[in-house]
Amino acid sequence: FFSVHAFQEEELRGKTAVIIDVLRASSSITTALSNGAKKIIPVADMSDAMKIANTMDQKDFLLCGEKNGTKIEGYHLGNSPAEYEPEVVKGKTLIFNTTNGTKAIKKSSLANQIYVGTFLNQDSILNALKDHDDEVVLVCSGWQGRLSIEDTLFAGSLLHAISGGELPDSAKDGAKVAFGLFQKFGDDLEGAISKSDHAKRLAELVPNGDIEFCCKVNEFDVLPGMRDGILTNLNG
Ligand code: MLT
Repeated sequence: FFSVHAFQEEELRGKTAVIIDVLRASSSITTALSNGAKKIIPVADMSDAMKIANTMDQKDFLLCGEKNGTKIEGYHLGNSPAEYEPEVVKGKTLIFNTTNGTKAIKKSSLANQIYVGTFLNQDSILNALKDHDDEVVLVCSGWQGRLSIEDTLFAGSLLHAISGGELPDSAKDGAKVAFGLFQKFGDDLEGAISKSDHAKRLAELVPNGDIEFCCKVNEFDVLPGMRDGILTNLNG
């Protein structure tokens, strides 16, 4: 197990990758699948989103995502989990692009298996990882190549659970940092995450309860997993 916030595509070849973007792509994806979205197609940018949309019937898809935190003009939904309500997403294909989260998903395409994880579906991720023999990489999306507290904390939370609270000496530096951060702030996730860079950025853009919601642990029994470039609920 190791966690990274910057990596080369080739490093993930043949491994299992958990893509983490607590604020907010992982949380929106997890909420959408839990609320009945049929599938999610992560794309790198708007132009790829439009190409896919043009091949589909208008009633079947929703264009979703954000650029620098705010909803993209002409899109149906932004990147707040609160928008992904059952009556909005049920049965729909979501075409999704965000500043960091979906880019990390696309960049991980050489992995054997990709899951999308966050506090909301922590136990589903832990259960899925139990059966994996390949090396697991916890991919912290961060913000434009920079580390973020919320993603590192979730990586630390997974490592804490998997290791039974004792990380072996052989653990890599990235895992040790994530684990240590979780030891320090695990009792007050919302307190720590609400002071993060991205929480501050979001407070100016979207003054709603996203931070509080994204800090809930095990809200959904959903396992977003990738098959042929499409995310579905593998627990469904
Ligand atoms: C991202 O993918 O960069 C984030 O999810 C941005 C956001 O919070 O909207």
